Amino acid sequence: MTRIEKLEELISKDEIQDRVKELAEEIERDYQGNEIIVISVLKGAFIFTADLLRYLTIPSQVEFLAVSSYGSSTKSSGVIRIIKDLDVNIQGKNVLLVEDIVDSGLTLNYLKHNLKSRLPASLKICTLLDKPDKREVEIYADYVGFVIDDYFVVGYGLDYSEYYRNMPGINLLPEEYL
Ligand code: IMP
Repeated sequence: MTRIEKLEELISKDEIQDRVKELAEEIERDYQGNEIIVISVLKGAFIFTADLLRYLTIPSQVEFLAVSSYGSSTKSSGVIRIIKDLDVNIQGKNVLLVEDIVDSGLTLNYLKHNLKSRLPASLKICTLLDKPDKREVEIYADYVGFVIDDYFVVGYGLDYSEYYRNMPGINLLPEEYL
């Protein structure tokens, strides 16, 4: 089965870059004079994080976390487990958690509470995409790239069954593919 189908583009590569740059400017303004630890949630946020970091000029470190969620490939079950933890202690640090997309909010809610329990000086959340329609817990990101309708999207780090992460824009995956 070929995986290089032509999908309908929702957000282009250039639109993403312009927005990521704006987000970096917003983050810089808020953290003026401070250092941050950027925590990227694998695998979905790896490309977004790489671009965001390159636009940031404040002193930044980067760390990675990986989570697994039991459930179908398109819907989180809410049972979330950290499968790769941070390599550093974040106590007393300014932490910026970077996610690819917030859907039910269950993953982010779990990570927020987990990281808060490690006593960072501050914790903010940045997500490239926000799909508010299916939210199951009340959770808000401090920085949001794009708010989208309830589509399943792939590309720019986001996958379906581990494919499509390498597409440069955000694309719609038709229902019949799911
Ligand atoms: P939540 O826990 O339901 O908010 O789901 C968050 C996670 O589900 C994200 O970090 C993604 O890994 C995945 N996810 C949710 N919606 C999409 C989508 O449209 N495309 C690709 N992955 C998605």
